[in-house]
Amino acid sequence: MFLFLLCCLSGIISIQAEEPSYTITDNAISEPLNNLTGDPARGRLLAKNRNKGNCISCHQLPIPEEEFHGTIGPALYDISNKFNAADLRLRIVDMQRLNPFTIMPSYYLSTRYINRIAPQYEGTTILSAQEVEDLIAYLKTLKAPDKAIEANTLPIPDGLKSGYEFISQEAREMQDDDFQNPGYELIELGKKLFARPCDDDKSCASCHGADGEQLSPASIAQYPKFIAELGKPLTLRDQIQRCWENQLDNLPLLYDDRELLALETFLRYLAQGEKVNVDVSGPMKPYYEAGKKLYYTRFGQMNMSCDHCHDVHTGKMLRGQKLSQGHTNGFPEYRLEAQKMINLPQRLRECFRSLRAETFEQDSDEFRDLEIYLNARGNGLPIETPAIRY
Ligand code: HEC
Ligand code: HEC
Ligand code: HEC
Repeated sequence: MFLFLLCCLSGIISIQAEEPSYTITDNAISEPLNNLTGDPARGRLLAKNRNKGNCISCHQLPIPEEEFHGTIGPALYDISNKFNAADLRLRIVDMQRLNPFTIMPSYYLSTRYINRIAPQYEGTTILSAQEVEDLIAYLKTLKAPDKAIEANTLPIPDGLKSGYEFISQEAREMQDDDFQNPGYELIELGKKLFARPCDDDKSCASCHGADGEQLSPASIAQYPKFIAELGKPLTLRDQIQRCWENQLDNLPLLYDDRELLALETFLRYLAQGEKVNVDVSGPMKPYYEAGKKLYYTRFGQMNMSCDHCHDVHTGKMLRGQKLSQGHTNGFPEYRLEAQKMINLPQRLRECFRSLRAETFEQDSDEFRDLEIYLNARGNGLPIETPAIRY
């Protein structure tokens, strides 16, 4: 009993210890958090630690052992000439107080103000009070004139641009070469499944042609599409499932099943080169609007929205990754990092996870609405399935 009480108590105390408390005056926090003293060496480590400050994902800093420094925020080589500790403190604690539109995370903000935080981060702050002070102590040592390296960026193209424009020349060559592009393996599997006879000898091919030649590429490019008889929109995956179950009497495929991925890849490949053409007028409008709203909503402990990375900071470097406009014309696509083919909901889940946000289910209305918005946002881009991306 005594032990039980002790555990509970220590649990409560540790949460309360992280419940931020500070006073903002004149756009600054003059008192050190919890009266702690910072250590510059620890601060330097925090600035490059991916799970902590990760400041170099957006800022260039004199940390030469790290190859990749981001270019989303200004270089901080001589930041102590510009700001004193009190100014720096508010900027690290909660930059949104100064600029409500900023992409910079609020490192010491109560999770009460966070939308859809992933459960494991509930009741925590990104940095502890001690860590914020350590970072301030480190930034106070940065006095050298601006030595920031020119960001190694391709010219940022205007207007609607495929993710293809933001990947390296090597990755583009890999995408363009059918023999090098690993996505073609899945197309072959999709083609086989398409022709594979089920119990009563029927296959997709028996209704849609041996190689799907009776399906219209222009129509595939229109998905997600409103299906009047069902009174709702279907993604291409939904439509494949619909035939899979109703026409072939199969049990439903799981949303991230490899067979579903293969069929989707094969069908989108049939429409390669076709321009994305999602009609979001009429009955599609409310779904499109719901997706758009999600796109502009801040999520997770990182407290960012999709547009922060894929509109506002397009073309800039997030550590080693060049931010694209976040289009969907390459899906399903091959991820070099994960070395596998993924569908769009898998990519969305990853973006949510990186925001430390609780993600939506693969087959949720939210992801369907986002898929509708994202596709329509890229109307006019050629389908590139299977694209290569990072
Ligand atoms: C996701 C990107 C991102 C991350 C991560 C990030 N920042 Fe920022 N930061 C920005 C942007 C963008 C600005 C420019 C001002 C704005 O948006 O309001 C900025 C501005 C600043 C400024 C003010 C610079 C000036 O010249 O006005 C400081 C100081 C700063 N950041 C420190 C940090 C520190 C320290 C960290 C790590 C704990 C960090 N930032 C992490 C994006 C980021
Ligand atoms: C018995 C015939 C039949 C079989 C077998 C069949 N389908 Fe269909 N498919 C249809 C019909 C009919 C439609 C029109 C819409 C509907 O009723 O679902 C259709 C529509 C489609 C569409 C949408 C085309 C468009 O232009 O909007 C796709 C994609 C598709 N099927 C894929 C498949 C796949 C993949 C398989 C195998 C898993 C398959 N179908 C099996 C009959 C079939
Ligand atoms: C912190 C920045 C960041 C935020 C916020 C973010 N993403 Fe991403 N996203 C990335 C990075 C990095 C990649 C991989 C490189 C690229 O294509 O930009 C990516 C890739 C994508 C892609 C694939 C692009 C392609 O060409 O294959 C889509 C689609 C996407 N994101 C959608 C979203 C959506 C929807 C949201 C909001 C829920 C979101 N992202 C939020 C960083 C972000």
